[in-house]
Amino acid sequence: MLICSEKYNDEELRALLRKKLDAARYEHSLGVAYTACNLFLSHGHGSTEELSRVYTAGLLHDCAKCLDEDKRDKYIKKYNVELSEMETQHPYLIHAKLGAVLAKEKYGVTDEEILSSIRWHTTGCRNMSFMEAVIFSADFIEPNRKQLSCYGEIRPLIYKDLDKAVYLILKHTLQHLNDKGQPIEEHTKEAFEYYSELCEREVK
Ligand SMILES: [Fe+2]
Ligand SMILES: [Fe+2]
Repeated sequence: MLICSEKYNDEELRALLRKKLDAARYEHSLGVAYTACNLFLSHGHGSTEELSRVYTAGLLHDCAKCLDEDKRDKYIKKYNVELSEMETQHPYLIHAKLGAVLAKEKYGVTDEEILSSIRWHTTGCRNMSFMEAVIFSADFIEPNRKQLSCYGEIRPLIYKDLDKAVYLILKHTLQHLNDKGQPIEEHTKEAFEYYSELCEREVK
């Protein structure tokens, strides 16, 4: 597999990530990379360039997930990463924004769509590009994930109607956060509104 980095080839990048992530997170990252490639292929995007780009996004999407607090804060300061109030209160959200920064600064990725796919993989956002929606969805369905009851509906659908699958993933996420009494991030709310309207329009 080719890798879209100005610093590392595929083997080097995987070796580096294996050191930076814990074993389960590394397996998950490989799972997202291959699931995302599979989704690209199933939707008719099969060129080596397209697969390399989405594979790179999948592999790196959680590159900031296993940082300890000190290191995370050091990078936030070093790269002037602006945090929202929600991210400050719920630091697990930071890894998406910081991951996009590290993918560029430390892993040598300059492709803006790869970086934005990493940026939006946790919350989603309105009107995601195809690659952004694929990484968002692959992160949710890749095989190493804990099995969820909604997989029966979402996994087959994702290969046929990606927008509808994104909508169902967002719906599940909102339900899950509501059940746990947790607040909902602004971009997730906006994404849910956008994709529910989009799916309603398509039904009419
Ligand atoms: Fe993540
Ligand atoms: Fe992930």
